Amino acid sequence: MSHDVIGIIGGTGNLGAAIAWRLARAGHPVLIGSREPDAAQAKAAELGHGLTGLANAAAAAQADLIIVTVPFAAQEATLAQIRPHVTGKIVVDTTVPLMPPKVMRVQLPAEGSAAVRAQQLLGAGVTMVSAFHNVAAHKLAEDIDVGCDVLVFGDDKAARAKVVALADAMGLRGLHAGALVNSAAAEALTSILIFMNKTYRVDGAGIRITGELVPPVE
Ligand SMILES: NC(=O)c1ccc[n+]([C@@H]2O[C@H](COP(=O)([O-])OP(=O)(O)OC[C@H]3O[C@@H](n4cnc5c(N)ncnc54)[C@H](OP(=O)(O)O)[C@@H]3O)[C@@H](O)[C@H]2O)c1
Repeated sequence: MSHDVIGIIGGTGNLGAAIAWRLARAGHPVLIGSREPDAAQAKAAELGHGLTGLANAAAAAQADLIIVTVPFAAQEATLAQIRPHVTGKIVVDTTVPLMPPKVMRVQLPAEGSAAVRAQQLLGAGVTMVSAFHNVAAHKLAEDIDVGCDVLVFGDDKAARAKVVALADAMGLRGLHAGALVNSAAAEALTSILIFMNKTYRVDGAGIRITGELVPPVE
């Protein structure tokens, strides 16, 4: 089966590198993007599995599906870099709008969520999905069962289903969680998980949806 080429924008970072590694290990062609092509190449070589490192814009241009893994403070500038290359493609935003130093408080942006902000910044020609807000990157980077469900948001059900399948391929459980506006809930939940990590001294608390779930008909 041929796979979409996946470009990870900010793929040198904690979450992006872990996603890249898990997807490449599962047989997906993955491009690591960075503001610095040398840094992208070095990270790709470190992670192995045939990963390739490129500048962010080149990774976005060559990819069929793009995953953006940069801090909220860098979201606007990063999306401006890739905007010319993403029309007609699926873009997966992972941004949690943390506003240091108060990262244990929910502080959503004026647009309602980082995902809706990303859609507004990239325009209607992009199919926006958001996911991976509640999974701890350092756990994802290890060869372990992470034990966290991945809530996937987006207005296009087929695009959402692709990202649910990618989460599954990474050894997680991807779950449809509805429209892009719903992303606010998962983005907000991360501040609560950070609070719980501190309060209960847990190493990367995650989430599990209980009950027997019957997968939707695609
Ligand atoms: N870490 C987690 O456990 C976790 C979990 C769920 C969601 N998230 C979300 O995922 C996103 C990435 O988190 P992370 O922890 O992986 O972040 P990170 O490691 O701090 O940064 C990721 C990458 O973003 C780029 N970057 C950093 N600062 C930048 C700036 N000022 N301008 C432009 N690019 C910049 C860097 O790439 P280059 O220098 O190579 O360009 C960096 O390697 C965040 O929005 C976070 O909320 C993180």
